[in-house]
Amino acid sequence: MGKLDGRVAFITGAARGQGRSHALRLAGEGADIIAVDLCEQIASVPYPLGTPEDLAQTVKEVEALGRGIVAVKADVRERSQLRAALDEGLARFGRLDIVLGNAGICPWDDLSLAGGFVDGTDVDLIGVMNTVAVSLPHLKAGASIVLTGSTAGMMKGTTEVMGNTGGVGYSWAKQTVAKYTEVLALQLAPHNVRLNAIHPTNVNTNLLQNDRIYKTFRPDLENPTREDAELAFPVLQSMPIPYIEPNDVSSLVLFLVSDDARYITGLNLRIDAGGMLKGEPAL
Ligand SMILES: NC(=O)c1ccc[n+]([C@@H]2O[C@H](COP(=O)([O-])OP(=O)(O)OC[C@H]3O[C@@H](n4cnc5c(N)ncnc54)[C@H](O)[C@@H]3O)[C@@H](O)[C@H]2O)c1
Repeated sequence: MGKLDGRVAFITGAARGQGRSHALRLAGEGADIIAVDLCEQIASVPYPLGTPEDLAQTVKEVEALGRGIVAVKADVRERSQLRAALDEGLARFGRLDIVLGNAGICPWDDLSLAGGFVDGTDVDLIGVMNTVAVSLPHLKAGASIVLTGSTAGMMKGTTEVMGNTGGVGYSWAKQTVAKYTEVLALQLAPHNVRLNAIHPTNVNTNLLQNDRIYKTFRPDLENPTREDAELAFPVLQSMPIPYIEPNDVSSLVLFLVSDDARYITGLNLRIDAGGMLKGEPAL
């Protein structure tokens, strides 16, 4: 008996990283999966995004657990693509119980007018809202939505810097996801549909493990390596660790989508090893 037997989960950004981890954890508890990922590059993102091969690997690993999966290449910025992907999954599985708005990018840009800010807010905010929008018509009492924010949206000053429009777009999008969660959760509550957001600190995925982030954590070095950055990564946490693992986030997701959390809604939950205790959360 799994905690999610007979349920169906729609997961964005499922080709790799946290999205794949969530797919495997939920499938391990009996859920069938509708997985989407862009599987293409976005110009303002300074690290490679997920690939078709990554998405195929998620399919292989979910099927190895004995669960069904429909995987579709789709862009969360395009509501029609998301709707088509979801419809494909619904045609196979016939229901929708769980929605994970997980896809995200951390763009980087200078002061140019196009690029980072638009891409960051399109994917990290509009993409999340599109995911919810196409899902709502299919959700019934007992359904649960979890959106992925970031502690970057809770830190003071992250939207008041000049010179990295991508990073500001990222932080503002995550900040706004938090407020959106509280406002919409109240509207969903009478329908017994729950909505929560989770806000991780550093997570050990490609979004963190790339040269641009290494340079952000080690501006004192010309070409910092992963080893150099790992000495600085713990600054964001209170517990003495450089980052958490995708599986740590999946544990929180599983709790929130299961009946164990049946009366938990409208929360913005940090999973940050105490990081935000060191500063004053903006929320
Ligand atoms: N890694 C971290 O340190 C960290 C910290 C806090 C929050 N987050 C958030 O966690 C979530 C998951 O990120 P991750 O750490 O697994 O990174 P990741 O880069 O490994 O995975 C993100 C996935 O989303 C996909 N994606 C990007 N744009 C898309 C689009 N337009 N449409 C569909 N799919 C798209 C990518 O191809 C990739 O497979 C993101 O929302 C991210 O902002 C990450």
